[in-house]
Amino acid sequence: MACRFLTPLLLLFAAAAAAAATFDSVPTTAFDEGYTPLFGDNNVVKSPDGRNVDLVLNRWSGSGFISSDLYHHGFFSASIKLPSDYTAGVVVAFYTSNGDIFEKTHDELDFEFLGNIRGRQWRIQTNVYGNGSTSRGREERYLLPFDPTEEAHRYSILWTAENIIFYIDEIPIREVLRSDAMGGDYPSKPMSLYATIWDGSTWATEGGKYKADYKYAPFVSEFSNLVLRGCRTSPLQEYPSAGGCAESDADLAAAEFSAMTPAKRAAMRRFRERYMTYSFCYDVQRYPITFPDCDVVPSEQEKFSRSGDVKVRLERIGRIRRRSNRRSRAPKRAVDGRQAQV
Ligand SMILES: *[C@@H]1O[C@H](CO)[C@@H](O)[C@H](O)[C@H]1NC(C)=O
Repeated sequence: MACRFLTPLLLLFAAAAAAAATFDSVPTTAFDEGYTPLFGDNNVVKSPDGRNVDLVLNRWSGSGFISSDLYHHGFFSASIKLPSDYTAGVVVAFYTSNGDIFEKTHDELDFEFLGNIRGRQWRIQTNVYGNGSTSRGREERYLLPFDPTEEAHRYSILWTAENIIFYIDEIPIREVLRSDAMGGDYPSKPMSLYATIWDGSTWATEGGKYKADYKYAPFVSEFSNLVLRGCRTSPLQEYPSAGGCAESDADLAAAEFSAMTPAKRAAMRRFRERYMTYSFCYDVQRYPITFPDCDVVPSEQEKFSRSGDVKVRLERIGRIRRRSNRRSRAPKRAVDGRQAQV
């Protein structure tokens, strides 16, 4: 099965990891210094040194943790190893949100990992919400050039006043630029970082056709290299004074992970061309009028059918795609699922 993943992009990932150990030099935060269990406390299992944490889903409970503070802009990162074997219905989420504080006008940035019947091939989804834009989901879904259950890979979310970048390892896979056209849909209020594992049987895997099977439990998702950088702020400061976060914003802007070099942009384009399987920008059934923030790329558009899913099968990853291109129902927000578990 290894050769299935042996694509030029895998080499690119390897090269990027070797050449730029930049993310590895970003200081990490011990669990007790930056995070607190959110639910299923018995299933939040810290390593003895407090730097790694396992989130466990068993037949009694899922689990999750949350950053102890809210952040106004930031870089949020973790190395995550997903549960292997049969993982239908199992959802792992790594995301920022303020849904607990601003119920109607919340902001959210998601990485969601949707389990699959064969266990090996997880689908990954990113999403962006701002100011309660839940009726305007901006989902994208991707396959991966590696097996995310075999070893940990780094997933990162950069959120600044100008842009949002989702990274897998050192490769940017999605960038959202702030624009006037996007208006309030661009996240603007302080957010917490969340990590959760929970039973999404009702919708996660092929629209709920395949449910979590607790014969394979416990499902364990391993988190390490926890990074929290940004301007810590209190929940009451809905719009922190610019001065209050200026220094932190400048630090973020100067960091390696904020620089969108031509090489990184090219890597992002290659990743998206090869691995993106769904984009809201091409889903004309759901959104007859394309969003103003969509940068419609003709070569991408050609690949996507009216439903926003890839229509042509790329031979290289055909075997993977056949298993995973059937569309799941539009996912609920991670925060909803998490609440359902509490
Ligand atoms: C967010 O939504 C609220 C309520 O719909 C609205 O009053 C407010 O102006 C919006 N804020 C932004 C920044 O768009």
